[in-house]
Amino acid sequence: MKTLLALFALLIVLAMRPDPFWNALPAPVTDADYYDDGTPLPDKVELGRMLFFDKVLSGNQNISCATCHHPDFAGGDGVALGFGEGPRGLGPNRRAGVSSYEAVHERVPRNAPALFNLGAREFTRLFHDGRVEVDTAGYYEGGFITPARWKFPTGLDNALAAQSLFPGTSPTEMTGQRGENPLAEARALNNVAGPGGVWDQLAGRLRAIPAYVELFEAAFPEEVAGADDITMVLAANAIAAFEATAFRADNSPFDQYLRTGEGLNTEAERGARLFYGSAECNTCHSGPFQTDHEFHAIAMPQIGPGKSDGSDDSYWRATGLRAFPEDFGRGRVTRRDEDLYTFRTPSLRNVALTAPYGHSGAYASLEAVVRHHLDPVASLDVYEVPEGLLAPVGEVLETTAQGPKLETRALSPERREAFLERDTWVQRQPELRARIAAANELEPNALSDAQVDDLLAFLESLTDPASKDLSGLIPETVPSGLPVVD
Ligand code: HEC
Ligand code: HEC
Repeated sequence: MKTLLALFALLIVLAMRPDPFWNALPAPVTDADYYDDGTPLPDKVELGRMLFFDKVLSGNQNISCATCHHPDFAGGDGVALGFGEGPRGLGPNRRAGVSSYEAVHERVPRNAPALFNLGAREFTRLFHDGRVEVDTAGYYEGGFITPARWKFPTGLDNALAAQSLFPGTSPTEMTGQRGENPLAEARALNNVAGPGGVWDQLAGRLRAIPAYVELFEAAFPEEVAGADDITMVLAANAIAAFEATAFRADNSPFDQYLRTGEGLNTEAERGARLFYGSAECNTCHSGPFQTDHEFHAIAMPQIGPGKSDGSDDSYWRATGLRAFPEDFGRGRVTRRDEDLYTFRTPSLRNVALTAPYGHSGAYASLEAVVRHHLDPVASLDVYEVPEGLLAPVGEVLETTAQGPKLETRALSPERREAFLERDTWVQRQPELRARIAAANELEPNALSDAQVDDLLAFLESLTDPASKDLSGLIPETVPSGLPVVD
């Protein structure tokens, strides 16, 4: 009898013990988690929307932020690695032309991320390697650590605003090649922040468009009383306000679940219990947006042209094309060995909408990238670029002379072949692959097929239904009069 009673008491204690799963879950997201408590001035947002879709911010006026962060592709570009400025069309249909202005010079080396919830205050580090981040030590006057270092302006609202100054300074993404336009010329001379530099010229373009002067006056009534007051800092703040509201996504079934304890189907709930339990996904994908904002090495395969890191010249020696195809990730920012091949933990909000996956878009499907996590090194070793993942490059140009007039020629068939080899070079070199594998910090974790299915159901539950159709963000026209649709 005594033992029975004791057993009964134990059962009651066990039943009353709080479910550790609930403690592991993040708190629900609220307006206060976002800049301006989620409601920036509507006029500022509207100006930002125009700038985001206006090709006037690119050197050759042929590409806007939206080309690579498009509503039709959930704020990404739907491809592993985009082409940047030059080619025409959107997403997987973007193709090079034959004129020097429309040809490919190289692929963009990293996958264009979706921009969901970046207006939440906790996103203080941007880019896959965090190279734009809030300077918590107060070392830089502008308040941000960026590739521009000391030459970075003051007055930027937040990290998102700081980030938006950079695409315009990348020749492949938006500036264009030297000899093609005055912006690219300034960029080639390394004049980004100075008088006549990239940012100054871009502000000049906006000042010359009366509709922008009106929009800036409405958006910044205190700062702008005429064209002369328009600056790229204000433009950046407006773009950030737009991104923060347009891509806010905190109304998924999982959000409902956090708010009410209901809203997940059985599979998704089982997946959540794995994610926040034995599968230990939340050691890195933690917090309300499933990211710790830290950098981790998980042996993600690298494809594409890379970031010219390190001194491995095997590709150059083998092909005669001078290039270094590695991407050191966070290590290229901090120059510390322990950061080599680490990348920022991505937020998983709306992840079911944002294929392909990984910093170079190596995985085409959500299932494939989740399975990579189960045994990263083994997965890296057998990785092959999925058929059709990398869009055909068409004509590729190499520069033969620079100066007032750009001189280019199409690559010969052999050199074009060598150019294409670069896309898979790192993966095909056992020594380079071994370095990525050696940095890996994610232990193998055998999950059954059923468990993987549950995890995928949970990841699906992170989709905000409103994010499935963002076409309402696309303006019909923009102040420059340049075409909005490619
Ligand atoms: C040619 C394509 C392209 C264009 C044009 C482009 N981006 Fe991006 N964007 C990318 C890629 C690729 C990355 C990731 C780069 C990296 O991490 O090194 C990125 C990263 C970002 C990020 C950081 C996201 C994160 O999670 O850290 C933001 C924000 C962003 N872009 C906004 C913009 C804005 C604003 C513009 C226009 C001023 C713009 N982009 C233009 C391709 C593009
Ligand atoms: C050790 C930290 C860590 C753990 C644990 C972890 N991840 Fe990741 N995850 C990452 C990093 C870092 C990346 C991006 C790597 C890159 O791009 O090189 C990533 C990428 C992803 C992506 C692709 C997202 C995108 O937008 O490209 C998904 C999906 C994902 N993780 C799901 C999971 C799931 C599910 C689990 C648990 C089974 C998990 N992760 C466990 C660090 C981790």
